[in-house]
Amino acid sequence: MNLQKFERYPLTFGPTPIEKLSRLSEHLGNIEVYAKREDCNSGLALGGNKLRKLEYIVPDAIASGADTLVSIGGVQSNHTRLVTATAAKIGMKCRLVQESWVPFEDAVYDRVGNILMSRVMGAEIDLVDEGFDIGIRESWKNAIEDVKAKGGVPYPIPAGASVHKYGGLGYVGFAEEVREQEKELGFKFDYIVVCTVTGSTHAGMAVGFAEDGRSQKVIGIDASGTPAQTRDQVLTIAQQTAELVELGREITAEDIVIKEDYAYPAYGVPSNETNEAIRLVARLEGMMTDPVYEGKSMQGLIDLAQKGFFPEGSKVLYAHLGGVPAINGYSYIYRNG
Ligand SMILES: Cc1ncc(COP(=O)(O)O)c(C=O)c1O
Repeated sequence: MNLQKFERYPLTFGPTPIEKLSRLSEHLGNIEVYAKREDCNSGLALGGNKLRKLEYIVPDAIASGADTLVSIGGVQSNHTRLVTATAAKIGMKCRLVQESWVPFEDAVYDRVGNILMSRVMGAEIDLVDEGFDIGIRESWKNAIEDVKAKGGVPYPIPAGASVHKYGGLGYVGFAEEVREQEKELGFKFDYIVVCTVTGSTHAGMAVGFAEDGRSQKVIGIDASGTPAQTRDQVLTIAQQTAELVELGREITAEDIVIKEDYAYPAYGVPSNETNEAIRLVARLEGMMTDPVYEGKSMQGLIDLAQKGFFPEGSKVLYAHLGGVPAINGYSYIYRNG
């Protein structure tokens, strides 16, 4: 496998810490849970998983001669916040399309959290009334054309930086980093739990961990509520990424493990069980998760542990991908904690 041949523009602090969640492990009683803190990976606008992906995309954006990054997401998209921060850092403009992906009303949903930060960092934002879809959108194509019409040079970055030729590389790097950290820790993780929606985080991990035969130990927790589309997208991105890094073998459907039981009732809307998972880890560990992504993957981890999915004593690495700013858009749910 060869990841080193790709240029990387540093946006993160370096390897992210792995910490043991001792009180959560004790509470569950049958597994040891560790968290890899991708949520603390950078000084750019509170950080998160998108920066690892963008590190491999920025060199291409700069080489293209672009002056404006153009991207898309929901109103409380973490991805668009981090594209905006990246644009600021590399001296480009940022144009965003933010759609009504989440059927959830909170008085200040479009004023706080991620979108607040994107506005403060200078993004030009089109709010578009379209529902959830991880595919390529007309509204995004229109924004790209509009940048051109106004004399700018756009560089398109799709939702979640996923369906981009280099979108999967960052999380191949995650697997290499975990392998190095495992040497220091003196043990290997039996499972890696990751939230999956637009797919390139899981896809990159599947490729990276295929190097030592562990792709099926990456357990994706679907938070999209459209798991067939997410599964297809993860597989396609993983196959393309495997070719790029010369993995030396094909990635097949069997390499992609996704649990579909936790995204209900809809993308971006937490269930009671999601909220209980958020409160549990907050109260046991002081670790915050959000109602759109990490709360659902934490709910999945807890439920799978309680159902005995992980063999007794398994060491489970929870990839904390960030996303906490969105919780501000859900203040009514947590008004009493
Ligand atoms: C905090 C957080 N967790 C998980 C995900 C899912 O990652 P991906 O879109 O690469 O599947 C995202 C982005 O969509 C995210 O912002």
